[in-house]
Amino acid sequence: MKRYKQLVWIYCCLIFITAGAGAQDLKYLEYDTDLITGQVYKERREKLMQQIGNEAVAIFYTNPERNRNADLDFPYAPNSDFFYLTGFREPNAILVLVPKGTNVRSLEDSTKTMTVREILFAQPRNPQFEKWNGRRYGPAGAMKLRGFAYATTNDKFKTMLQSMLFSAQAKSLYVPTLRSDLSGDLAELLQPLKSMMDQFGGYVELRDPTALVRKMRVIKSPEEIALLAKATEISAAAHRQAMMSVEPGMGEYELEAVYEYVFRKLGAEQNGYPCIVASGENSVILHYNTNRRKIKDGDVVLADCAAEYRGYSSDITRTYPANGKFSKAQREIYQIVLDAQKAAIAAIKPGVAWQEASKKADEVLTEGLFKLGIIKEKKTQAMKKFYYHGLGHPVGLNVHDVGQPIMEAGMVYTVEPGLYIAEGSEGVDPAYYNIGVRIEDVILVTADGSKNLSAAAPREIAEIEALMKQKGVGNLAIQ
Ligand code: GLY
Ligand code: MN
Ligand code: MN
Repeated sequence: MKRYKQLVWIYCCLIFITAGAGAQDLKYLEYDTDLITGQVYKERREKLMQQIGNEAVAIFYTNPERNRNADLDFPYAPNSDFFYLTGFREPNAILVLVPKGTNVRSLEDSTKTMTVREILFAQPRNPQFEKWNGRRYGPAGAMKLRGFAYATTNDKFKTMLQSMLFSAQAKSLYVPTLRSDLSGDLAELLQPLKSMMDQFGGYVELRDPTALVRKMRVIKSPEEIALLAKATEISAAAHRQAMMSVEPGMGEYELEAVYEYVFRKLGAEQNGYPCIVASGENSVILHYNTNRRKIKDGDVVLADCAAEYRGYSSDITRTYPANGKFSKAQREIYQIVLDAQKAAIAAIKPGVAWQEASKKADEVLTEGLFKLGIIKEKKTQAMKKFYYHGLGHPVGLNVHDVGQPIMEAGMVYTVEPGLYIAEGSEGVDPAYYNIGVRIEDVILVTADGSKNLSAAAPREIAEIEALMKQKGVGNLAIQ
C-alpha cells in the first residue's frame, strides 16, 4: 500500500512537471510583450464573418516555406492576409471560419461536442523537431496567445473539411485563389480542399475573400500605427547613425551594416526589405542593392533602408553627401526634390485623391528642372525622364501595402519623390551626372491633415550637414 502511494505521488509529480514544462514553453513565445493581442485578431475575424454572412465558409492559408538552397530555407514569412487575421507566424497553418458554427470534439472531453465558428489548424508540437529548430505554438499556444476559440493539429484538416462545409450548409465557399506555385507540406495539406473545390465547384459558389481582407487592412488601427511608428523610429535612428558614420573610402556594405546593426540593436526583427545603399553612379538605380562599391569623395549616397518591427515595415530614404558637404549641383537637385516632397505632403488629408498629391510633386520637379536647364520644355513628360516612379505607396504588413485612391485618416503612406540624372543624359550639364536623390518619409493621414512619422531622420540640407560632423557607430574600429 505504501509503495502504491509512493507511485501515485511520483506519477502526480510527473504530470505536474510536464504541465509546468508546457507553461514554460508558452512563456518562451511571449518574449515580445508588445505584440498585437489575440483579442484584436479575434475582432478582425468576427468582422470578416459578418461580411461573408451565415451561409458561407471561408478558408485561409499561409505562405509555403521557401527553399534557399540544399537543406536551408529562407527565413519564414507568413502570408500577410493570413497574418492579419491570425497573428500566427508558423508555416503549414490553415484558418477556417464558419459563421453559422460547426460541431467539433470538445477539448476537455472528447466524447462530447462543442460548436465553434473558427478553427485554426496548426502544426503539432514535436519535441524532437523543436530541439533542433525552436519551439512551436502548437494548437494550445495558438488558443492561449492568439485568441482562438478552437485550434487543432493540421493533420485533422482533411477529415474535418467536409463536415465543416456540410454542417454549415454553406452556399458560398471563400478561398484565396490556390496558386500553382504552392509547394511542400502546405500544398499537400491543401490537396483535399483543391479536390473538393473541383468536385463541388458547381454546388457551392466559389469566391475569393482576398479583396475583403485587403480592404480591412487599408485603414490602420491604433495598435498598427504604434508598431509602424516604432519601426519608423528605429529606421530614423539608423539613418542618423549612417549619416554620422559615412566617409569616403567606406564600402556601401559598411553603411548597410550600420543600418542593420541599429535595426537589431533597437529590437527590430529584420529589414523591411533589402537595404539600398547606392553611391555615385549607383544612386540613379532605383532598387540597387548590390552594395559592393567603395564610396568616393564627391558622391551622393542614396540610402533606402528601413526596419520591420513585429511584422510592420517602415520605408525611409535619405540622400546625403559622402564627404559631409553637398556640392552646388547636388544641393540644387536635392532642394528641388525636398520642395516637391513638402508640396506633396502639404496636400495630404482625408478625402483628397493620392493623384492630387502626386501632381503637386510633379509640378515642383518640372519647374525646378526647367529652371536649371536640365529640361528644355516645362512639361511633366520631359521631367519624367528623370523621375521614373510613383510618388509613394501605403506601408503596413507589406512594405508596398494595400491602399485605395482616396486618402482616409489612419492610412500610412510613403511620400518619396526623386530625381535621377544618369551619366551621359542628353543635353544635361555633366556637373549633374550621377546625382540620384530620393527623399522618402512615412506619413500618417490624420483627421485634419498628416503627421510625419519619420521626422527624426533629418532632411534639411543644413541639418544633414550639421549632423554629419559627428561620428557614428560605423566609425568604431573592429579590433
Ligand atoms: N524601398 C522600396 C520603396 O521605396 O518603395
Ligand atoms: Mn517606398
Ligand atoms: Mn524605400
